[in-house]
Amino acid sequence: MDVITWKPEYEIGIQEIDEQHKKLVALINNFYTTLVRKGSNEEVAQVIFEVIDYTKVHFAIEECLLRMFEYEDYENHKKGHDVFVERVLAIDKRFRGGDASVSMELFSLLRDWLIQHIQEKDTQYAPVLLKRGVKKSWLRKFW
Ligand SMILES: [Fe+2]
Repeated sequence: MDVITWKPEYEIGIQEIDEQHKKLVALINNFYTTLVRKGSNEEVAQVIFEVIDYTKVHFAIEECLLRMFEYEDYENHKKGHDVFVERVLAIDKRFRGGDASVSMELFSLLRDWLIQHIQEKDTQYAPVLLKRGVKKSWLRKFW
């Protein structure tokens, strides 16, 4: 198992979302490196919190965009997000209950789900939103 290496093919072509996905990958990788260097349970709990927290923020923003541009497959897309968050929270609960062995399972789920979701689902809405006028990129860096 290894960290996620960001690849150009993961980009969906909407800069705001691509930047958020990169941040999510960085947080997931940070979680992994904390596990590998055998950080304390408190440290691991903190990085898991950061991943979950930002995932929720990212999903909320993405869902908002999908609603604003009246994306036809919104319900299914949101359902995918919701089911994923439930799975992650269930594993996190086990971790907080003292089962530290689930942390690698959580990392695999985060890594595999995110990359698959980006490539299979997010790439489907990107051309639709772009066609409807969502801004593709910015000349100025805001963050
Ligand atoms: Fe998504």
